[in-house]
Amino acid sequence: MTLAAEGGLARELMMPWGVDIDLAEGAMAQPDRVLTRRASAMAGYYRDAAALDALIRAGDPVHYEVFEKTVPEAYGHLLLCVSKLYPGKVGDEYFFTKGHYHTVSGTAETYLCLRGQGLMLMKTASGLCEAAPMCRGRLVYVPPHWAHRSVNTGGEPLISLCVYPADAGHNYGDIESEGFPQRIVESQGKAVICT
Ligand code: PA5
Ligand code: NI
Repeated sequence: MTLAAEGGLARELMMPWGVDIDLAEGAMAQPDRVLTRRASAMAGYYRDAAALDALIRAGDPVHYEVFEKTVPEAYGHLLLCVSKLYPGKVGDEYFFTKGHYHTVSGTAETYLCLRGQGLMLMKTASGLCEAAPMCRGRLVYVPPHWAHRSVNTGGEPLISLCVYPADAGHNYGDIESEGFPQRIVESQGKAVICT
């Protein structure tokens, strides 16, 4: 079905829908798409390349998964997904997601933490950085122009419900070259931020 929208644009009319999310477990029922990143997808991201290689050789475990509902990647839509980052370390660094800016840099994102413990690292191209604690029930607002990476400092999966404009896109390339100024490592049994 098409809809004559403002400005003469014809758009597909989507029917309303819902999805069940188990808030205690942090599980989305019947996602349309699951993105799986194994340790081998993280080459070049961790400081200790030998430790990452050892992890890959020891079975290349799943590092994180993203469970998504499909919507058109178009202005006006919201994309919602559940991000599940497993616990573990590469050397002394806690598991983290690749991290990205949005391709449409002026788009924000909300992360509602459903389970686990960790940090949301955020940085701007001009060098500002922030580390926001994540724990069950905490919502982190990632404003426009901030790259974001989640880090699991706990012993169970770090699970968040993420919502962002569906046309935002993911720019991984800039983080691959810039990295994040803060790394989260275990020192004497505790998570510490090192710069
Ligand atoms: O859109 C987001 O910010 C999240 O859904 C992430 O994509 C998810 O946490 C995985 O991280 P990354 O895309 O940095 O690999
Ligand atoms: Ni994002």
